[in-house]
Amino acid sequence: MSLSGKIALVTGAGSGIGKISAIQMAQIGAELVLLGRNEKKLAETSSEISKSVGKCKWYSVDVTNTKEISNSIQKIRKECGEIDILVNSAGINIPQKAEDVTIETWNTIMDTNVKGLFFCCQAIGRQSMIPRKQGVIVNISSQAGKVALPLRVAYCSSKGAVDQLTRVLAFEWAKYGVRVNAVAPTFVETPFTKEMLIDQEFKNFVMNKIPLKRLATPLEVANVVCFLATNKSSMITGAIIPVDGGWTIH
Ligand SMILES: NC(=O)c1ccc[n+]([C@@H]2O[C@H](COP(=O)([O-])OP(=O)(O)OC[C@H]3O[C@@H](n4cnc5c(N)ncnc54)[C@H](O)[C@@H]3O)[C@@H](O)[C@H]2O)c1
Repeated sequence: MSLSGKIALVTGAGSGIGKISAIQMAQIGAELVLLGRNEKKLAETSSEISKSVGKCKWYSVDVTNTKEISNSIQKIRKECGEIDILVNSAGINIPQKAEDVTIETWNTIMDTNVKGLFFCCQAIGRQSMIPRKQGVIVNISSQAGKVALPLRVAYCSSKGAVDQLTRVLAFEWAKYGVRVNAVAPTFVETPFTKEMLIDQEFKNFVMNKIPLKRLATPLEVANVVCFLATNKSSMITGAIIPVDGGWTIH
């Protein structure tokens, strides 16, 4: 697999799945642009990539601010060049019982996981991909888009929306040569899940649901991101690829 000569932009690239996906794409030749809101972590990821593999720049962008997204993409295109690959990994979860979910919680999750993700696709689609009739988008969804998870009504709803917007974008933009897919992991060992898996009862529930009897690693998700980003997956669009150790087969 090679991404030589390609420019890849990753949101939520300061940590977890976004960080490892960025590193893996850099290792197969992509030039990286990192987006996120935690400047310290972005700078760390960026210097890790620049020192060991290749060119990497970072930009502090809050994906819930749609105006900021569009303006930043214009700036990035001027400074780095046209974007060939977009990986949307920025995302959050605030576990709450359905009866306790506040409007603020609902909006924060939807604004980040759905609105932010969609408008990143739209900005880069409009500015970089549709005009050049090429491009690849990989959205980080979740098994939560398909199965019910307790205390996650807003999160599951947001990931269901990510799956659907992935399919619609794939359908609409196929004529422009833009492929749009998603990866749907089970629980992955990242800062995102560290706190929730301290609860042994919850960890047992998770382990019992995964036929392979372990959590996914960020690298196992990043490997699928890389496959979808390269032309090894040239006939795949609109797919939601599970990386879930079999959770969603039963
Ligand atoms: N870790 C898991 O178990 C798991 C499982 C399935 C899906 N996912 C999904 O994978 C994606 C990445 O999660 P992760 O586990 O790497 O978590 P993470 O917390 O390590 O990374 C998420 C990143 O997104 C950034 N971010 C959050 N809100 C943002 C905003 N408004 N603007 C810009 N950046 C923002 C954070 O700063 C962070 O760096 C998320 O979409 C998550 O829903 C994670």
